[in-house]
Amino acid sequence: MPLLSLDVLSVRNIQSASIVPSPTINLIVGANASGKSALLEAIFILGRARSFRTHQVKQAISFEQPQLIVAAQNRQANGSVHLGIKIDGKQAEIRIDQENCQKADLAYALPVQLIHPKSYRLLDAGAQIRREFLDWGIFNHNLNFLPNWRKFSKALQQRNVLLKTKQVNQLAAWDKELLQYGLIVNQYRQDYITALQPVFLEMANQFLDTSEIELRFNCGWDDKQALADILKSDLDRDLRYGFTHNGPHRADFLTYHDKRLAKDYLSRGQQKLLMLALMLSQVNLLNREAQNNCCILIDDLTAELDTVNRSKLLKYLDTLGCQVFMTSTSLEEFGDLSAIENYKVFHVKQGCIEAL
Ligand SMILES: Nc1ncnc2c1ncn2[C@@H]1O[C@H](COP(=O)(O)OP(=O)(O)OP(=O)(O)O)[C@@H](O)[C@H]1O
Ligand SMILES: [Mg+2]
Repeated sequence: MPLLSLDVLSVRNIQSASIVPSPTINLIVGANASGKSALLEAIFILGRARSFRTHQVKQAISFEQPQLIVAAQNRQANGSVHLGIKIDGKQAEIRIDQENCQKADLAYALPVQLIHPKSYRLLDAGAQIRREFLDWGIFNHNLNFLPNWRKFSKALQQRNVLLKTKQVNQLAAWDKELLQYGLIVNQYRQDYITALQPVFLEMANQFLDTSEIELRFNCGWDDKQALADILKSDLDRDLRYGFTHNGPHRADFLTYHDKRLAKDYLSRGQQKLLMLALMLSQVNLLNREAQNNCCILIDDLTAELDTVNRSKLLKYLDTLGCQVFMTSTSLEEFGDLSAIENYKVFHVKQGCIEAL
């Protein structure tokens, strides 16, 4: 649900800023190094308790400052809640309506989808980024996913410790856990891909003018065999290398266009549009279940799209009804704004943010 107000303290070059964003589209403009990405990073931190720019979120704390704070009033179905996160060099303190909370509570309260120029790696980087993409979607889709995923991850971690230390006699207990929760995680992922596929097709059709798009799920092992049998037949190899070779932790999905692997045949521009379609289809699916639930952050992307696709994107975002924060170095780069309603423009200059 949309942020009604946002306060940012000591995030990168933003020392202190308070804004009242539009519940729909927010266009953030400013010169290079003015603090546009820093503003998106602050919102991302509020939703995910981590940064999208650096591994260590503490690097986002302004130089010479002890901590950063991001807080917001967030509209929910039954009123509004106050979300806040404070990060110092060591830890994160999360509050929802003054109560101490966990990262997962924050993520449920403010699902943020980030799209930036490097997001096209979703198609061609290693599988982990795609697994995280899937799991984020499922996490927001079904509250039961997280506890099952955690149990699976714990079982996998314990199994790998036993493999490394060659404690074979204790393996059976963790294999049982890994199978039980791994198969549940796998089922969630399969169901999610099935639900996402038609929405993705619709989006790909809009942005790429094609209906020959397909998502193929790979569960992380040879699915002609049972996972229990795979664990047994892999045991010697798993022991030799000290880790579990096959299982849901190796899951992936591939995108095919016209029966060919998209990443190997599509142009860079087409790959970007495909990535955009994937990311937005995830938000679209989420929106069908919980109206206007997601906050979309789009950093520096419009400059990379041609005029036609820029206006398609704007129109699409306008009809989606989610809260969007988009950055660019000039207002013109967003394209023709006459067709969209209720947007707000913010100008960023040396870390200060002003509504225009
Ligand atoms: N921890 C930090 N403390 C203070 N300033 C920082 C910190 N980290 C980065 N900066 C500076 O903050 C400024 C704003 O960076 P930001 O990436 O937000 O700019 P931007 O407006 O997105 O620019 P561009 O258009 O080039 O993407 C930069 O000058 C950067 O060097
Ligand atoms: Mg930037």
